[in-house]
Amino acid sequence: MTSPIRTVYWENDTVVFIDQRLLPGVETYVISRDYRQVAAAIKDLSIRGAPAIGVAAALGIALGAHQSQAASVTALKTDFEIICTTFSQTRPTARNLFWAIEGMKKCFCEAYAASQSQTDRDWKQALNYLKQSLITEACRICAEDIAINRQIGAYGSSLITAGDNILTHCNAGALATAGYGTALGVIRAAWEAGKRIHVYVDETRPVLQGARLTAWELVREGIPATLITDNMAGFLMKQGRIQKIIVGADRIAANGDAANKIGTYSVAVLAKAHKIPFYVAAPLSTFDGAIKTGRDIPIEERDPEEVTCCQGAILAPRGIRVYNPAFDVTPQSYITAFVTEKGLIYPPFRKTVPLLLHS
Ligand code: MRU
Repeated sequence: MTSPIRTVYWENDTVVFIDQRLLPGVETYVISRDYRQVAAAIKDLSIRGAPAIGVAAALGIALGAHQSQAASVTALKTDFEIICTTFSQTRPTARNLFWAIEGMKKCFCEAYAASQSQTDRDWKQALNYLKQSLITEACRICAEDIAINRQIGAYGSSLITAGDNILTHCNAGALATAGYGTALGVIRAAWEAGKRIHVYVDETRPVLQGARLTAWELVREGIPATLITDNMAGFLMKQGRIQKIIVGADRIAANGDAANKIGTYSVAVLAKAHKIPFYVAAPLSTFDGAIKTGRDIPIEERDPEEVTCCQGAILAPRGIRVYNPAFDVTPQSYITAFVTEKGLIYPPFRKTVPLLLHS
């Protein structure tokens, strides 16, 4: 058995993460002592995937507070707010990022109130208490993410039948989370349960999360898989080669519309045309009850160079205009079910998603 992939974690007062830009060629872990480096790593996709971004932000915020030179609780509060703002400006689409920042803010408020009520505590003790509370909370969020993914895997595995050929898009694996994965966690759980399955991996242009990362995870674990370019998926569906599709999500609106890596919408439309079940696996931290429909999900636009260049090779002439949205939104009507840590959620999503969020 291969050792589990640890994407991002806390160790000896540092944040450690695998640099995903270098995979599959080089497996390098970065040891970060500066929260700004963690924020930059989220921006440049060294750390990517919605749950991993959330976990990295929580750990990065704890790191920032830990490295703060503030000499009073009030000064630490000012530093803490600056740190949180830095993380909130890294990437706009993944709900998990904002969910994690809100969790860390709540933790700070509670620890702050507790430190104020203890009048016999000197300021150094109060600072240590606040910093330690943030580290404990970030490590809890990190460990909980892996547990949630395993739960998603257990529920999702029931959807998978031995002999299935499953298509996935982008990377919703261990690398996109603290470990194990959401969509790939379902595939992992089915495989671990002894189901003989085979995975088709969309390469996922422009940044190739499928070819570089999902394929790396599957090969590493010996799960049978075949890589295809994105434009091949429809042909394979027409040939009857795909029985199920499972993807992750970056933000899910209250009505069930789901944002995920660019290209997911095309796969969902093809799935409907070929009557193939299309599942979305995501933790509750990806759902955004405050956003009614997918129309209001902010879609990140990234550097044109991601389209004109690929792994250092120039693919297009200088001067060509480029449009590079990083995500698209799949309308809820194309989704067969959501796989969450609370179980499988079926239509009508307008009713079942709000019920899930209030359960
Ligand atoms: O731009 P990325 O690589 O961060 O996009 C990632 C995705 O779209 C994933 O499919 C999504 O975050 C789900 S990961 C469990």
